[in-house]
Amino acid sequence: MAKSKKGESDWWSQEAKRLGYPARSVFKLKEINDRFHVFGKPDKVLDVGAAPGSWTQFVSQEILKGRGLVVACDLNPLSIPVEGTNITEVVGDAFSEENQARIASFAPYCVVISDAAPHTTGNRSVDCQRSLEIAQCVAELSKSMLKKGGNLVFKIYQGGETAELVRSLKKDFKKVSVFKPECCRNSSFECFVVAQDKLAGVAEA
Ligand SMILES: C[S@@+](CC[C@H](N)C(=O)[O-])C[C@H]1O[C@@H](n2cnc3c(N)ncnc32)[C@H](O)[C@@H]1O
Repeated sequence: MAKSKKGESDWWSQEAKRLGYPARSVFKLKEINDRFHVFGKPDKVLDVGAAPGSWTQFVSQEILKGRGLVVACDLNPLSIPVEGTNITEVVGDAFSEENQARIASFAPYCVVISDAAPHTTGNRSVDCQRSLEIAQCVAELSKSMLKKGGNLVFKIYQGGETAELVRSLKKDFKKVSVFKPECCRNSSFECFVVAQDKLAGVAEA
């Protein structure tokens, strides 16, 4: 029997809970990684828009296996345990001068991931514009913080200017794809940009 959209969303949420993750979004990152192998052998990962913490937890435990470092930044605190782990939390706006400096102090990163999203208003063009602004800031940040060969994954609400941003990323990365994971709600207009193999990067400190 086909599941309703609501039933589908509840199923993913319950499955996340069963596996010990605070949010269903973990399945989106798993699917992206299964398809694009974005993590390779990373040592430092930056997670922008990280709360409540499913992506951070997945990277910390399943990818880095407790080693390396995940720098997790969000306007809100994470709801997962951080003390004694390989997670460093930065609470606040990822794009403020102060937080950029904190995030930069751990750079360069092998992978930058961002599930950051604006508060939605219900007005699609306003929501797409705000999502685009966040995506542009993440893309900009990756220029100065990502290693050569590094990968970038970020969420964007599909709208008119997504194609322009993708075009500009193609100058900096070998391959850029737009992907909508199966587990995104059917009705959702979010998708993910996966930019692989950064052509030039910042040197190790
Ligand atoms: C969909 S949630 C992220 C879920 C997370 N990936 C997980 O797996 O638990 C989007 C997050 O983006 C955050 N966000 C939006 N704008 C931000 C900004 N400028 N700086 C930091 N976080 C931001 C929101 O606070 C929200 O927690």
